[in-house]
Amino acid sequence: MTEDASAKKELAAIKGTKDILPGEVEKWQTLEGLARKTFELYGFRELRAPVFEATELFEKGTGSTSDVVTKEMYTFIDKGGRSLTLRPEYTPSVVRAIIEHRLDLEGAPMRYYFMGPMFRYDKPQKGRYRQFHQVDIEVFGERDAAVDAEIIEMAHALLGRLGVSGSETLVNSVGCRACRPVYSAALREAAAKRKSELCADCQRKAEINPLRIFDCKIEACQEVARSFPLIQDFLCDECRDHFRNLLACLDALNITYRVDPRLVRGLDYYTKTTFEIVSAGLGAQNALLGGGRYDDMMKDFGGPDICGTGFAMGIERVLSVAELAPPSRKMLYLAYLREDAKKAGLELARYFRSNGVECLVEYKDRGMKAHFGRANKLGASWVLIVGENELKSGRFGLKDMATGRQSEGSREYLLALLLEG
Ligand code: HAM
Repeated sequence: MTEDASAKKELAAIKGTKDILPGEVEKWQTLEGLARKTFELYGFRELRAPVFEATELFEKGTGSTSDVVTKEMYTFIDKGGRSLTLRPEYTPSVVRAIIEHRLDLEGAPMRYYFMGPMFRYDKPQKGRYRQFHQVDIEVFGERDAAVDAEIIEMAHALLGRLGVSGSETLVNSVGCRACRPVYSAALREAAAKRKSELCADCQRKAEINPLRIFDCKIEACQEVARSFPLIQDFLCDECRDHFRNLLACLDALNITYRVDPRLVRGLDYYTKTTFEIVSAGLGAQNALLGGGRYDDMMKDFGGPDICGTGFAMGIERVLSVAELAPPSRKMLYLAYLREDAKKAGLELARYFRSNGVECLVEYKDRGMKAHFGRANKLGASWVLIVGENELKSGRFGLKDMATGRQSEGSREYLLALLLEG
């Protein structure tokens, strides 16, 4: 490798991260805009938390037996000797912020959304990145399963606006602190019987949290997990009623779903409802979004006993299957000829921009032909010509690049034409 090539490689974006360049970023902006609009229709407000937090927040929140915490966190010691972590997910940060600012005392609906980068050190592959982006929503203080159904419906509303079709909704209940220990004991017993068939990691999981065996991607472990008892047979009355209520609300909303009794999701905090919306178009990493209920996290953090429910959508994954029309954009190319006209061009460009017209000036000495060639290449909608004669007369020439129509007039007259077209 030449010195130049190796310097370039050293300076390249880190594996598992990506630049989002003009041409692609417009899709992100469309998604973000539609997400905002959708969530606000359901009474959500934005809550922005820091990118890094104390490591204990995720150990306690996301959970010490989850793969995210045991294997995937970007944790570092800062100059003050504190262990910090780039957030691998957003849910614990929202719960912390509520407790810290006592948002529960404000009396406003506790419905929050956020969009931004998350960080997980996992093996990069299609649909799995080390810096990825989530649209996250969380609701607090609503015990009724109706709200779980409402946020699933909201997810569908957003996916519909984004032109995502052919998705499937999976739902499950993972029980609560009353009934899950009994289920975990049954799982532990079942896992112990087939311990030798499990990978080393799952053998460890079998001891500490056998539910996590369901997360293992190794086919042999999945095969063993298929023989395990199902949570539905262990739910307490309250969890069973809650789940029935969820399904009844989804039916009332005409949302088609499949109950997947092995959908335990990879994070430790879930209680009762879990759900995912998956897309066959995605390949191995098929979840567009995932979420569920977490009724104990706030209390476990030392805050008030307020339940939570929510989901996070992977922006990269959703955009890879979204059908979005490219946003239409109209640009005025200002072609000035010679030095005097440049100064006038600066002022004219300011005039058009301040009146809402996108206007591009490139400060190169170009002749008329070169200007038109460049404007054509850039896909400009109009070209405004500013030369010596135009400066004297205060009348400028404007060419509509699509129709070839030429107009002439004062800047006010041309502005009116531009705003019409
Ligand atoms: P999660 O299932 O870990 O849940 O992530 C949610 C979504 O983020 C996934 O369905 C996927 O679309 C996307 N995602 C996750 N990891 C990656 C990655 N490495 N690369 C690309 N996309 C990824 C949570 O994060 C929970 N906080 C969701 C939640 C909110 N539960 C309750 N409230």
